[in-house]
Order: sequence, then structure tokens, then C-alpha cells
Amino acid sequence: MRMRLPKVKVVSAVSLDGKIASRTGYSKLSCPEDLRRLHLHRASVDAVMIGANTAIRDDPMLTVRLVPSERQPIRVIVDGLLRIPTTLRVVKTAREIPTVVLTSNRADRAKAEELRQSSVQVEIFDTYPIDLREALHSLREKYNVSSILVEGGGTLIWSLIRQDLVDEIYLTVTSCIFGSGTSFVEGEGFATCEDSPKFRVKSVLFCSCGREVVIHLIRERST
Ligand SMILES: NC(=O)c1ccc[n+]([C@@H]2O[C@H](COP(=O)([O-])OP(=O)(O)OC[C@H]3O[C@@H](n4cnc5c(N)ncnc54)[C@H](OP(=O)(O)O)[C@@H]3O)[C@@H](O)[C@H]2O)c1
Repeated sequence: MRMRLPKVKVVSAVSLDGKIASRTGYSKLSCPEDLRRLHLHRASVDAVMIGANTAIRDDPMLTVRLVPSERQPIRVIVDGLLRIPTTLRVVKTAREIPTVVLTSNRADRAKAEELRQSSVQVEIFDTYPIDLREALHSLREKYNVSSILVEGGGTLIWSLIRQDLVDEIYLTVTSCIFGSGTSFVEGEGFATCEDSPKFRVKSVLFCSCGREVVIHLIRERST
């Protein structure tokens, strides 16, 4: 039977050489207008998802602040080994804004309990890495999530691309160059273009800042 899955939209800002962060972890690539666009995306979805490294490195709130919005999306952190500290802002504010951590049975049970004490919903999956198709299905069924914005980082995006779970990409290409660092997609990779899921360019927007282009791509599916 086919699983009902939420629509998955990936939004990232990359350097000219395709990095979402420099070798030092610096990742503030977006101009103010691009940040506003990101908040518009957040306001348009049921959930916002990030990987554990992004949560640990950036400690983001993942809330809609720069545009008007009547509600906040659920925050979802994918953390197979439960490495996120309980001092993170998403944990500390979990009583006010629903926050879900997706983890595996390899994670420490006491840590899961500690997060639950802070009102974080902890969902434990049987495999590591987590089967993200199953995880998306459970977000849909249990939390009524029909649209998700994935903000990164590269490892999480690879996990989703590998399972062909991404429906749309908004890629802001900025004019800075890092030369090394974390790529937009970080993983084992595909050997050829044939192996990669295919995306069609829907539109290209030239940002008023004069230094960014936003490429909107949609997944081409045969059925
Ligand atoms: N420029 C931008 O738009 C942008 C946006 C977001 C982030 N970033 C930057 O990206 C960098 C982080 O990227 P990253 O690639 O290192 O890390 P990441 O994708 O944020 O997090 C990777 C971690 O997520 C967990 N994970 C992902 N897929 C999983 C799966 N299928 N099953 C279980 N766990 C899974 C794993 O945690 P465990 O190890 O606990 O299993 C993995 O180690 C940061 O520097 C951040 O600032 C930039």
C-alpha cells in the first residue's frame, strides 16, 4: 500500500561553489530579503525540519518572525543518536511550540526521557539511519503534517534525496565562495546523473540585493 506522505520542500542558501557552510561552520549566506523569503516559507508549512548538526551548531528557533503569521509550524529535529543538548532553544521553548525529535533505538533512553520532561515529543524508530519515508508517514498520521520545510543541513538533505522524498527545492545561490565546507547535499552520493532524482526548473528570481539568484525546482515524477 502507498504511504500518505507530506509534501517536502527544501530551502537552502549556498555559496557559488555549492556549500551551505564554510569549513568553520559559518553559514550566514542569506541577504535580509532572502531571510524574509525563508520566513514566508516557514509560514506556509505545517512543520520545519533540520538535522542534529544544524540544531547543535546554529541553535535556531525555527519560528516565523519576519513576516506576519497566525501560527507557528511544528519543529522537527532528526537526531538518530540523540546528541542534541537539552539547553537548545527549541528544547527550552517546547512547552509553547510543539517540537518533535525523530531518533532511533540506538539512542540513550534516559536522554529521551529527559527531552520528554521538557515537553519534547520523542519518536523512536527501529532502524539507524532512520527510514525517513516511515518518519514522514508518521508525522503525517500522528501530527497531521501535510507539508514540511527542510532547512538542512547537507546530511539530512542527502538522507531525503537518497530516498527520493523531496518534491521541491528553493536554492538561493549567493555570490560568496568558500572553497571547502559542507555541501548542499552531503553523503555517499550518486555515481551518475541517471541515478539522481530529476528536477525541473520552475522559475529563477534575481534578488533585489544584486548578489543572489533563487532557483525554484520541482521533482519530475512519471505518475
Ligand atoms: N546555508 C544554509 O541554508 C544552511 C541551512 C541549514 C544548515 N546549514 C549548515 O549546515 C551545517 C550542518 O550540516 P550537516 O550536513 O553537518 O548536518 P545536518 O544535516 O544538520 O545533521 C546531520 C545529522 O542529522 C541526523 N540525521 C540526518 N539524517 C538522518 C537519518 N536518516 N537517520 C538518523 N539521523 C539522521 C544525524 O544525527 P546523529 O548523528 O545524531 O544520528 C546526522 O549526523 C551547519 O554548519 C549549518 O550551519 C546551512
